[in-house]
Amino acid sequence: MPLPLPRGDAPYRVDMLCLGNICRSPIAQVVLTAKLARAGLTPRVIVDSSGTGDWHIGQPMDPRAAAVLSDLGHDPTTHRARQFDSSWFDDHDLVLAMDESNLRRAQALAPDDDSRRRVVLLRAFDPAAHGDLQVPDPWYGGPGGFEEVLAIVDRATDALVEELATLLGPPQWPSPQPPA
Ligand code: 4NP
Repeated sequence: MPLPLPRGDAPYRVDMLCLGNICRSPIAQVVLTAKLARAGLTPRVIVDSSGTGDWHIGQPMDPRAAAVLSDLGHDPTTHRARQFDSSWFDDHDLVLAMDESNLRRAQALAPDDDSRRRVVLLRAFDPAAHGDLQVPDPWYGGPGGFEEVLAIVDRATDALVEELATLLGPPQWPSPQPPA
């Protein structure tokens, strides 16, 4: 799907949005950030994450989310949960919601139509979504839920990186260096 156009020369800023900002959106933030670096799109794209709720502000990732990221070699330890509010529209080009509830909450906070159009579902980029556009909330389930989140995020972010590369132009090396 076409991405919202950049708002100027500043880095293109993406926010991954879920409910608590301790499970789904931090996984998506870490995975997308790593892929952007490999694609030579760092620092032209900056990825944040946030939650619509306030329960976990300041807390690290859920240990189950941290575990699936650690297993892939990522560092999950620096994450601290933040809450989304309308000010995030001031400096973010694209808000990627994990489910319909997060989408509606962010759209309700949007100050204008342009901001509202910048909120879309992450799974709109998942080629295997088959009409199911939710990233299921893994909070109440077992570790399998976190593996499912990771698989969805992996597919969606592959497509997203391609869209971002098309939108922003070819990689600029060195940016950091591509992988060996
Ligand atoms: P997340 O998962 O939205 O993917 O971070 C949840 C984390 C916490 C809660 C719900 C979902 N909670 O109810 O506290």
